[in-house]
Amino acid sequence: MLNKQLIALERNLGVSTLTQIIEPCIQEQGVELYLKRDDLLHPIISGNKWRKLKYILEHALALNTQKIISMGGAYSNHLHALAYVGKLLGIQTEARIRGERPEILNPTLNDMFDWGMHLEFISRSDYRLLREYKAYDALPGLQKGEYWLPEGGAMLSALRGVTELVAEIDLDYDVLCVPCGTATTLAGIISARSNKQVIGFAALKEAAYLNDEVKTLLKNTACHNDKWFIQLQYHFGGFAKITPELLQFIQQFEKAQHIKLEPIYTGKMLYGIYDLIRQGYFKSGQRIIAIHTGGLQGNRGFNS
Ligand SMILES: Cc1ncc(COP(=O)(O)O)c(C=O)c1O
Repeated sequence: MLNKQLIALERNLGVSTLTQIIEPCIQEQGVELYLKRDDLLHPIISGNKWRKLKYILEHALALNTQKIISMGGAYSNHLHALAYVGKLLGIQTEARIRGERPEILNPTLNDMFDWGMHLEFISRSDYRLLREYKAYDALPGLQKGEYWLPEGGAMLSALRGVTELVAEIDLDYDVLCVPCGTATTLAGIISARSNKQVIGFAALKEAAYLNDEVKTLLKNTACHNDKWFIQLQYHFGGFAKITPELLQFIQQFEKAQHIKLEPIYTGKMLYGIYDLIRQGYFKSGQRIIAIHTGGLQGNRGFNS
């Protein structure tokens, strides 16, 4: 049974509803598009953050963890959510952050600091090395009571919470779409008990390696769904890179649908889905569900 603190936390989360996206360019192609609103779960532990962290935290709490150490960029949604949840659960948190310490902490880092997270800034080469440590006890020098959480929560225990998102969908559908950073959320969706087509949209350039990352994560699951692939061409120049075309799309979408997006993950995925719909990629009559993975706090990186 889930840890009592996590049950209490989950009880206070919002409801991830399904919203149909009504747009002439979608209806003209005879397809239906829905957005699964994981952004509504929580303003900070939003979207895939809760989904991935839920059973990782369960594991950490079962081990009587006193401190969770993780890694990420200076606007990381993952670190931001971890710092917040650590404060709620009374677990210390520490972050290895890519790049030099800025003179003034950005709003994301500032929140993390306020929530008691210890911030350590490391060089890009040291950061790359940390990616080698993929298990909770793999970080060299880890002390008793410390738990290592790899980038983006890319661990087997992250997948189970993501499968719950798929189980919540009470509408028949043909295709499930999700943005990818480490592709852990994608792996979780593929591992859910469903044989529907799954499409990941890579948020970064030259991301074909994510196929192997997904296969590695799926190795120890009972997953038999091979109807998945990763769209690699909607990265807009690379991770966190944006173009006027992408921003225009997002502005139009937000105005028409009254749903906030961010340009790093869900914005890029939706641009890609609209593009594929326009190209006639999806068959008439198909119903597509796209997952809004939240992360709206990251927008502060584009407004400052
Ligand atoms: C808002 C948001 N969406 C999508 C992703 C990508 O998730 P994953 O790393 O599991 O592919 C992230 C990163 O964790 C994220 O912060």
